[in-house]
Amino acid sequence: MNTATMSLTEYYIHLEHEHGAYNYKPLPVVLERGEGVYVWDVEGKKYYDFLSAYSAVNQGHCHPEIVKAMIEQVGKLTLTSRAFHNNILGEYEKYICEYFGYDRVLPMNTGVEGGETALKLARRWGYKIKGIPDNQAKVIFAEGNFWGRTIAAISSSSDPGSYSGFGPLLSGYINVPYNNLDALREAVKDPNVCAFMVEPIQGEAGVIVPDEGYLKAAYDICKQANVLFIADEIQTGLARTGKMLACDYEDIKPDILILGKALSGGLMPVSAVLASDEIILTIKPGEHGSTYGGNPLACKVAMAALKVLKDENMADNAYKMGEILRNRLRNIKSDLITTVRGKGLLNAIVIKPYDEDKTAYNVCLELMKNGLLCKQTHGDIIRFACPLTITEEQINECADIIEKTIFSLTTKLD
Ligand SMILES: Cc1ncc(COP(=O)(O)O)c(C=O)c1O
Repeated sequence: MNTATMSLTEYYIHLEHEHGAYNYKPLPVVLERGEGVYVWDVEGKKYYDFLSAYSAVNQGHCHPEIVKAMIEQVGKLTLTSRAFHNNILGEYEKYICEYFGYDRVLPMNTGVEGGETALKLARRWGYKIKGIPDNQAKVIFAEGNFWGRTIAAISSSSDPGSYSGFGPLLSGYINVPYNNLDALREAVKDPNVCAFMVEPIQGEAGVIVPDEGYLKAAYDICKQANVLFIADEIQTGLARTGKMLACDYEDIKPDILILGKALSGGLMPVSAVLASDEIILTIKPGEHGSTYGGNPLACKVAMAALKVLKDENMADNAYKMGEILRNRLRNIKSDLITTVRGKGLLNAIVIKPYDEDKTAYNVCLELMKNGLLCKQTHGDIIRFACPLTITEEQINECADIIEKTIFSLTTKLD
């Protein structure tokens, strides 16, 4: 292949194609810069980012306060491992525990490690505190769950695309339908159940919003059965849905709270598991950890990322801008959109196939041409999740782009 005649976009895509694993299928756009709600590709074209790196960039690209915190720390000390103390970790632990009202935090890096940590804590609590016989602990998950790609995570998945061909899978999981309290009530009757792990809104499943009251009722069922309620707020948390945590809508405080993604505002992988003394102190030195977990750079970045969420009222803005966006989307009179759903700035539309076999991916391509980047999930769903710093003028401009794009495709409906 002659790389000399390629455009910059083609060249970078070619490099990935030749040397990378094929575990993703990105849109054909190559980004090189981001600022706030915007990103620019290598040809200089500007786009609205309507994915925010799967809700990791809630604070907007390269938020100046978070970048500043990173730059200040990066030349001083970045990693000590946990073999030694560092002078930032304790400060961060105090900050995040007070921020969310928990006794303690266990710092990790990626979201899936946060999920693994929560599971290990729940199992350990099950054995030490609840008295479950050795190796018998079970955790309940909701069908449609997504919490990452490790063997533990895919073992709870109900999506064959995630788990097929990777067996043997882990045991000790019970799956119940999402948004179904009777099934949960039945499942917690098993005395070996230690926890129910749930996303307050299922993100990867396609922004599935449960009925009002589901989370509170599920929490109460867990409490009555002495089962831990674990909230995976890696995608829904940190102001994304219009409150600091999506669980805040139903005034519940999860026994174990998992955060990730926007905990660093998109600068580096930072995750955290928050819980009570009773739960978190069941793990002793040497029984769990991570070389990078709790590193001083991550701790500084996370404190700045949390601070700007509050300083700039991002939850309120997400709430208001989300209302505007959903109203605009619901007013698009086209049969191409069959559903509009979401909370705050975590939203999705469902697309009816058009032009014989075209669906959500093709709509994303058209939106890209019109200057708005987003990604389909499960073939027919498009998630809209822009940075939470978006203004009213900008959200209306985005709604205009979506409307124009949908209208241009509506003529091609079967
Ligand atoms: C709800 C939820 N939990 C966990 C994860 C895994 O996070 P990570 O990709 O950082 O491991 C994701 C990722 O999309 C997620 O949406």
